[in-house]
Amino acid sequence: MNSNIVLIGFMGCGKSSIGRRLASRIGHSFMDSDELIIARAGGKSISDLFAEEGEERFRERETAELRELVGVQGIILATGGGAVLSQENRDLLRSIGTVVWLHADSETLFERATRSRKRPLLEVENPRGTFNALLESRIPVYEATAELKVHASGLSHEQTVEEIVRALEGSGKASFGPSGDSACSV
Ligand code: S3P
Repeated sequence: MNSNIVLIGFMGCGKSSIGRRLASRIGHSFMDSDELIIARAGGKSISDLFAEEGEERFRERETAELRELVGVQGIILATGGGAVLSQENRDLLRSIGTVVWLHADSETLFERATRSRKRPLLEVENPRGTFNALLESRIPVYEATAELKVHASGLSHEQTVEEIVRALEGSGKASFGPSGDSACSV
C-alpha cells in the first residue's frame, strides 16, 4: 500500500481546499486533477474546455492525467466530481492511493457548487434539477469506489482534515503523528 490519498466526491464538497490542508498536515504534495488538466491545456479554464471541446474530450483529458499519476508517491489528489464515472478511472484512482469520499449534505453541496460560475455542468436552465439528478446518480458510484467515507457537513476544514486522518488511522490504512507532526507511515 502507498501513502497517497485520493479525495473523491461531488462538486462543492471541498476536495481541493481540504486536500491542500490535508497535504500540509501530513507532509504530502497536493495535486488536483482539474488543475493538471488546465495546465496541460495551456491555462484554459474547465468551462472553456467544456464549451470548446465538449464533456467527452474533457473526460479523456481527465483519464490521461490519472494515468500519469499511477506510481507517483507522497501525494494527496483532489479529483473532479465526475472522475469516478468510468471503470478505467475508478481502477486508476484506487491504484493511485486510498480513496476517500468526502461527502456533505445536499444543501451545502448545492450552495458551494453554484457559488462560483466555474462548473459548466451546473450552468444550465435548471441548475437545481440537474444538481439533484447528478447527485442522485453519483452517490452510489462514490460509495462503491471509496474505501472510506468522511462527512464534512458542519465541520470546519481543519476538523474535516482531522476526521480524514482519524478515518484513515481507524481503518488501519495509515498512521500519522499529531497535528503539526508531518510523519506518516503506512
Ligand atoms: C465535474 C466536476 C468539476 C470539474 C468539471 C466536471 C463533474 O470538478 O471536473 O466541471 O463532472 O462533477 P469539482 O468537483 O472540483 O467541481
